Amino acid sequence: MGEVKWPAALVRKTFFDFFDQRGHTIVPSGSVVPHNDPSLLFTNAGMNQFKPIFLGTIGKTDPMARLKRAADSQKVIRAGGKHNDLDDVGKDSYHHTFFEMLGNWSFGDYFKKEAIAMSWELLTSVYGLDPERLYVTYFEGDSSLGLEPDLEAKELWKAIGVPEDQILPGNMKDNFWEMGDQGPCGPCSEVHYDKIGGRNAADLVNMDDAMVVEIWNIVFMQFDRQKDKSLKTLPAKHIDTGMGYERLVSALQNTQSNYATDCFTPLFKQIQEVTGARLYTDKYGKDDVDGIDTAYRVIADHIRTLSFAISDGAVPNNDGRGYVIRRILRRGVRYARKYMNAEIGSFFSKILPALVDHMGGQFPELVKKQGDIKEILDEEEEAFSRTLDRGEAQFEKYAAKAARDNVKKLDGDIVWRLYDTFGFPVDLTKLMADERGLDIDENEVDVAKEKAREASKAVKDSVETFSKLNVHQIAELEQQRKVARTNDDAKFVKGDSKGKVQLIFDGKTFHNSTKDLQPNTAIGLLLDNTNFYAESGGQVADTGRIVIDDVVEFKVMEVQNYGGYILHSGYIEYGELKAGDEVICEYDELRRSPIRNNHSGTHVLNHSLRQVLGDDINQKGSLVDNEKLRFDFSHKTQVKIEELRKIEDMANAYIRRNAKIYSKDVDLDLARAIEGVRAVFGETYPNPVRVVSVGMDVDTMLKDPKKQEWRQYSVEFCGGTHVEHTGLIKELVIVEESGIAKGIRRIIAYTGEAAHQVQREATEFNKKLDALEALPFGSEKEAQVKAVSQDLSQLVVSTLTKDEFNQRFQKISTSVVNEQKKRQKAEAKTALDTVLKHFEKNQDSKVFVGKLPIGGNAKALTEVIKHFQGKDKEKSVYMFGGSKEESVVVHGVFVGSVGYHVTSPPTHSESHMLTSVLSQHLSSRGVTAEQWAASVSEVVGGRSGGKEPSRQGQGTNPEKIDEGVETATKWLNEKLKL
Ligand code: ALA
Repeated sequence: MGEVKWPAALVRKTFFDFFDQRGHTIVPSGSVVPHNDPSLLFTNAGMNQFKPIFLGTIGKTDPMARLKRAADSQKVIRAGGKHNDLDDVGKDSYHHTFFEMLGNWSFGDYFKKEAIAMSWELLTSVYGLDPERLYVTYFEGDSSLGLEPDLEAKELWKAIGVPEDQILPGNMKDNFWEMGDQGPCGPCSEVHYDKIGGRNAADLVNMDDAMVVEIWNIVFMQFDRQKDKSLKTLPAKHIDTGMGYERLVSALQNTQSNYATDCFTPLFKQIQEVTGARLYTDKYGKDDVDGIDTAYRVIADHIRTLSFAISDGAVPNNDGRGYVIRRILRRGVRYARKYMNAEIGSFFSKILPALVDHMGGQFPELVKKQGDIKEILDEEEEAFSRTLDRGEAQFEKYAAKAARDNVKKLDGDIVWRLYDTFGFPVDLTKLMADERGLDIDENEVDVAKEKAREASKAVKDSVETFSKLNVHQIAELEQQRKVARTNDDAKFVKGDSKGKVQLIFDGKTFHNSTKDLQPNTAIGLLLDNTNFYAESGGQVADTGRIVIDDVVEFKVMEVQNYGGYILHSGYIEYGELKAGDEVICEYDELRRSPIRNNHSGTHVLNHSLRQVLGDDINQKGSLVDNEKLRFDFSHKTQVKIEELRKIEDMANAYIRRNAKIYSKDVDLDLARAIEGVRAVFGETYPNPVRVVSVGMDVDTMLKDPKKQEWRQYSVEFCGGTHVEHTGLIKELVIVEESGIAKGIRRIIAYTGEAAHQVQREATEFNKKLDALEALPFGSEKEAQVKAVSQDLSQLVVSTLTKDEFNQRFQKISTSVVNEQKKRQKAEAKTALDTVLKHFEKNQDSKVFVGKLPIGGNAKALTEVIKHFQGKDKEKSVYMFGGSKEESVVVHGVFVGSVGYHVTSPPTHSESHMLTSVLSQHLSSRGVTAEQWAASVSEVVGGRSGGKEPSRQGQGTNPEKIDEGVETATKWLNEKLKL
């Protein structure tokens, strides 16, 4: 590409400058991973971060609450949920799973006229796009929803000079924008650009034509789509716009494709260098004869999606957004391998530097998280690389069989197996099937999946209670059957391993084959070699599968070591096994990986504990699983917060030193001699024993075992699996310190991604506290204190952070309570004054019914009642207080000793006078506080309680206070009329 007039970076900058000059605040992009919105997989539009502003739910103290106009470039991923472009990526020139959305917003400020005018000015006068190539659309209305056509927008476009034949109506699908099934929405006007020009392309607008593409969408936000599908009008009208940055760049650089711009060329260059593939030629469909251009596009698109998602905290896994990430990576990996012959394992991370170079300026999080992104990409890719070849081979077999049999479909069972055994996401298999002209019936896949799920569920309990090998059985194996003990050295080597079936155990006896065993029941498998980790030393067992491709699959759910015989228990998903079969052992590496972090984290923690609390602390128990580490140790008192801080800091310093972890089998006596070595008291260790040391070579230590310096290192007897160097643990966060027995304390900690997750939650909660603190005193703040207190009690974050949060919250809460007390006292006075003033002004009046200018302050009502009970027994009062913000209404009544007859109907709801003396006690007319209050409770909700002649109640419908006043008045009227 030669010199271009509009390099991508200048296009972005020009957008910002334009809106900056027009009073917009340029804000950073929101996270592409909406951690706070579980209903949304990824940020799918620029307006996501402003949703609370549109809905009017933004905290008054949130800095964003002050925004009137804003503009930004939002990172957007559309690869799942309502907006999903994954299937189009690679195939066409203008879809991406990740893209930048340039947007400008008005929050109840300017509306249609200005938004339309600014967009036209920017596109035609600033960027200089040819107005004849631009087409605009407006909403044609929808009578079924009672929505009028947006003729206003049409007229506005006309008024700025857009010829009528370039202004087109559009339907709900194209011209009514909605964030999701619920949420802010409104009619929109889109701007489309014709890349060819010199013609009238109106017919091609919104027709999926790659040469006539939508570039900008201007939404007139007016509604909030409700759960019941109805449209609720928003409190104010807003502007929300989104312009596809890559499409705009393509228009300005006059390329037919987004991919032919410098948004992508730096990535293509890197892909070319890494793979040695031919140069990118921007061909599509059949023109892309060898499929290499498509692969370029897919890889470049996917590295963007993966890197941005991971930098914002998404991690590949089997669920929700994590699974989207996993699928995208696997899809990309397969393209790289198949079309570019790329070596898989760390392919994507080799493209990453070009992305960071290119986009790190605008999005500094890429630079900051580059190391993490690389690690996660590599780990995930390496795991898939292990089954990719075999899965493809299987697929080829199935495809060949389909061709032979002349069928045009892949069975659901097969698609499921490719997923379950080889980790091929269904959409990847579908793509591969498409290449071969084969169909997939997703319903069939679901059926197969359900079948597998049920089988696993049915067998789960029996695996959990599966019999152990007892001494007799072990003796039988050893002496009669002469079965060698299992060699599990491979558990320390990453990757799959091979093994041979020795025997099959049904819980009671041994068999040579699974043929005669009941299907779908728990069985145990003995191999000569395995890489599965059997539960020991606090580390949980691996799970995974043992397979012969396409012949048999055994699901491993539990692994135990009985006297050196390692029993894999689980069930056969399909096929049969017999003694002598050569199998592949595949422990679940993606589960093992956090286990490794947690185990090495335990050693580091153990070491820090001793450094800070002294040599007296001894390990009393430990659990290491894929979620957390739990460490019990002897220590007489609670670990103080300052000590915990030191321990955590020290552990993290150790982690950040990226110390190498060494292990070696050492003669037990020699090993015991190493200065500072940790072992669990009372435990019998094998001889030789495995010594694991963090940061110092075991051999070096053995040369001079008594050196004091070794105390600076963690050295333990341990048979577990560990990371290669501590940096991989990333972070250790203590989330609990508690006592479990006299003199025994327990620490629970998270490492790796789990630790990062709690840190993110802490950051979010901190924002909540900021907002709470900044709220002015009043009922809203009081209500928020309650809500935040509940959130805080459930919050799982670092113990240290929680302690800070607790202290900070306590302070806020105390200030609120003090303020509340002051206010309540003042309110009580106001309440009494109001009522007294009424009687003062209306000397004849004996009854007051009305709302007092107080919040949900029941105590104020008690005070008033007390006054009348003590001093003014003849008067009756019925008072209300409360507010919508507090969602509460309080009411209280005192029935006085003199009754009155009502002669005039109530005049207004604030305070109703009841006149005309009737020298009778009210109760003789059937007026009891209980019944009077009951009539009110019916209206305001809730109940009342108390002793005659007074009563107080609380309800949940503050919007019904006025109605309550009416009811109380009417009720008394009725009683006195008789
Ligand atoms: N929210 C609008 C869109 O994403 C601008 O298209």
